[in-house]
Amino acid sequence: MIIAVDGPAGSGKSTVSKEVAKRLGITFLDSGALYRTCAYIKIKYQVSGKELIDFVTLSKMFFGKDGELFLTINDNTEEVSKKIRTPQIAEEVPKVASDKDIRALVTEKLREMSETESVIMDGRDIGTHVFPDADYKFFLKASSKERAKRRMRDYEDQGITMSLEALIKEIDERDKIDSEREHAPLKKADDAIEIDTTHLTIEEVISIITARTN
Ligand code: CDP
Repeated sequence: MIIAVDGPAGSGKSTVSKEVAKRLGITFLDSGALYRTCAYIKIKYQVSGKELIDFVTLSKMFFGKDGELFLTINDNTEEVSKKIRTPQIAEEVPKVASDKDIRALVTEKLREMSETESVIMDGRDIGTHVFPDADYKFFLKASSKERAKRRMRDYEDQGITMSLEALIKEIDERDKIDSEREHAPLKKADDAIEIDTTHLTIEEVISIITARTN
């Protein structure tokens, strides 16, 4: 079984998908984490263009059993779970994710990871491109102010301080690049169920999804 959960930054995709996975006993896969890792590679190894594509082609990305993400390049394996959640990566990632070749490589990795098990995958193009035939598709949205507030709490938990205004700007800019890019833009699939999470609790969103997929 494949469940696709798409939506813009801070719409609650990851939090909700992680919990739905637990309750249904299936695997949660965070596609954005792989795009963030591509941006991390770009910054860490100071590569871009063709060289970045070569690095991503050679890299291995895999999730541990508690959802932690590992990156292997040239026999060097590191856990990147926290390193990819910084404002610097958030700013870089939509540019990296606009590249057609990067998208093809990440899409291939995501499909491989889902070959042998039931998964709930969150992202921007899961229901439209990665798994157009997914069994269930959801599209989460929320006002940009609410989404920025949520992201502010995430950053606070990591000891990172950013103003609400700066976060609204970051989120709006990222949504704009993600929605307007040529390849697999952020877009609701025609057959996805739309959920506006602005005034819903996490538990309420989880209930809507599990009620439809159980
Ligand atoms: O958690 P948040 O919603 O902030 O973002 P994310 O899911 O970690 O994704 C980070 C970025 O990766 C997005 O802003 C997109 O630029 C890109 N992305 C994408 O292009 N396609 C996906 N399926 C998932 C993420």
